[in-house]
Amino acid sequence: MLEHLIEFFGRTHLVVLHFPIALVIVAAVVEVSRAIAPKIRREPKREPFRPSSAASLMFVFALLGTVVSVSTGLVLGFDGGQRVDLHRILGIVSGVLMLMTGIALVRAMRPQSRGGLVYLGLLSVSAAGVGLTGHFGGELTHGAGFVTKPLERMLGMEEAVISEFDLEALNISQASLDSFNDTILPIFMNSCVECHGPDDAEDDIRLDSIAYVLDPAADMIRRDDPGMSELVYRIDLPHDDPDIMPPEEDGEPLTRAEIELVWGWIASLSD
Ligand code: HEC
Repeated sequence: MLEHLIEFFGRTHLVVLHFPIALVIVAAVVEVSRAIAPKIRREPKREPFRPSSAASLMFVFALLGTVVSVSTGLVLGFDGGQRVDLHRILGIVSGVLMLMTGIALVRAMRPQSRGGLVYLGLLSVSAAGVGLTGHFGGELTHGAGFVTKPLERMLGMEEAVISEFDLEALNISQASLDSFNDTILPIFMNSCVECHGPDDAEDDIRLDSIAYVLDPAADMIRRDDPGMSELVYRIDLPHDDPDIMPPEEDGEPLTRAEIELVWGWIASLSD
């Protein structure tokens, strides 16, 4: 039971993390605008900068959220493997920066204090650190460039793999190619490519193009004996089997209809 509670605690990371990011960035934007507004208005005699109470309150909540995010994140990251590293290091560094900002805030709040600018500087750096941490965290869960990918597609910047390969070398018909692209690829895109694609080729296999799927080195498909193909075996397993793809905890299993489609396509290759 304790282990489940710990797992639950770790996973709340994915919910909590949004608060400190938003709050600290808004707090920094508010304070920086307040600091430069008198300059823009060219006010002659300026008071030393003092934190505003509203933005300070936001910062305090951001600090609390950071403490919770860093602790839940560390728990979540225990079984996360080496991919977590950059995100983890940045998270810890940002946590320390936030604590330093908190101390600077307390000092800047004292009457007659001139520590306002130190606080302002630390607050801005913390906001940048927390934002960057969030960015790399997002790449962990969604893959690098998840957000900008549609733009790359729109601008035609994505690698064109599909057009490059040679039907003859792959030894397939135009019809097999078309049915792969029309029916099988969308299934893989939906359920597999986040782990077996350009961003993250788990086990060195990619499923985002027929050229990779049929690559003999990947050894996923047995044309002589389709039913023995690793690819078929991995998707057509009981849902709690440790070998099932997508892995049980990471996604819905393929539907019966999808499995039949993949199966049928592989079987048709030997016709
Ligand atoms: C959350 C990440 C993830 C998703 C999603 C995922 N896989 Fe995997 N896959 C892995 C990992 C990790 C391995 C290596 C460990 C293993 O073999 O179980 C793997 C291994 C495989 C292998 C074995 C390769 C070999 O060495 O023979 C096949 C085949 C495979 N996946 C197919 C798929 C298919 C098909 C889908 C989509 C229906 C899919 N995977 C979805 C992570 C994923």
